[in-house]
Amino acid sequence: MSGFVPTAASYRPGDRTLPGEYYTSPEVLARDLDRIHARSWLCAGRSTELTEAGQYLVRGVGPDSAILIRGKDGSVRGFHNVCRHRGTRLLDAERGTVSGTIQCPYHAWTYDLEGRLRGAPHMQDVPDFDPSGHSLHPVEVEEWEGFLFFRLVPGGEPLGAQYGQMTERVARFRLGGLRPARRIGYEVRANWKLVLQNFSECLHCPVIHPALSRLSPYLSGANDLTEGPILGGYLTLADGVGSMTLSGRTCARPVGELPDEDHARGYYYSLFPNLLLSLHPDYVMYHLVWPVAPDRTRIECEWLFHPDASADDSFQPDEAVGFWDMTNRQDWHICEQSQAGVASRAYRPGPYSPRESLLAAWDRAYLAALGGFEPQG
Ligand code: FES
Ligand code: FE
Repeated sequence: MSGFVPTAASYRPGDRTLPGEYYTSPEVLARDLDRIHARSWLCAGRSTELTEAGQYLVRGVGPDSAILIRGKDGSVRGFHNVCRHRGTRLLDAERGTVSGTIQCPYHAWTYDLEGRLRGAPHMQDVPDFDPSGHSLHPVEVEEWEGFLFFRLVPGGEPLGAQYGQMTERVARFRLGGLRPARRIGYEVRANWKLVLQNFSECLHCPVIHPALSRLSPYLSGANDLTEGPILGGYLTLADGVGSMTLSGRTCARPVGELPDEDHARGYYYSLFPNLLLSLHPDYVMYHLVWPVAPDRTRIECEWLFHPDASADDSFQPDEAVGFWDMTNRQDWHICEQSQAGVASRAYRPGPYSPRESLLAAWDRAYLAALGGFEPQG
């Protein structure tokens, strides 16, 4: 069972692109970060990155920073990266391992892996000082299909309320057990929304991605999620093409028990607000999208394979990595061109075509999450 039921595109004649301020204004970015990123489940990466107690990931979200760290009991917990003494950032590196405790680099307040304050020099001289009242501020953490998620502001719906609809759709790809082979980080001089919007259409594929278009005609697919925070569908591989790779052949054993139709498809979903998921018969790729500035976005891309794929002579991850690294860079370049254009005084919102219905739907989901905010000017 694929769980895939094509849904009519949600195109509404008259849908137009967002005004320029949404891509250029520091005020809008601050609202994005506060109303959306701080209050949404953000994907932080794969739980397999944190195999041992003390291994951590640090994820920056505007002015905030979250630590996700594996405890001695095997659980992954999340904390704000803020010392309870005078607020100093505790961990600087994006990933690493601490040996049993997190120690502040300023005055050496020391926390255990459950966030409890275990040492605070000279605070025993402070009347009524209670270490138990100075644990690290918690950040919510959940796991879905091997992906770690965190939410900075507590409350709101559990992860399953948003991701439940994806679980059946992707079950056969066995995401939870896949293993990473390669990770590449990119800095893109474009607003984070342009990156998400670019992912949501293949109208640009014949022009921007000639190699991809040879492997998969851009009109060959259908969408099944066309409204809401998760949007996407599939493209069909051309006759004789096995996967989206440099050679067009598969580069690893299948990731799961896939029906015939899945061997001729790539599935592409954007999961609001920071995860892009691309499912192919022989590998899964995901992008994490991190806003940095109105015109700057950091993107992390990782390729996942069957856990035993590396035992095969046929395992050639560079075929997939090379193909998408080339395709990613084509996308980032046109996103940067797009950013340059929408920043112009001459830019006005332009009309979406029916082939861009997912972008209009993405914009609606974005504006709904923003909560009616209207930029000034
Ligand atoms: Fe962290 Fe002083 S600010 S120990
Ligand atoms: Fe593209």
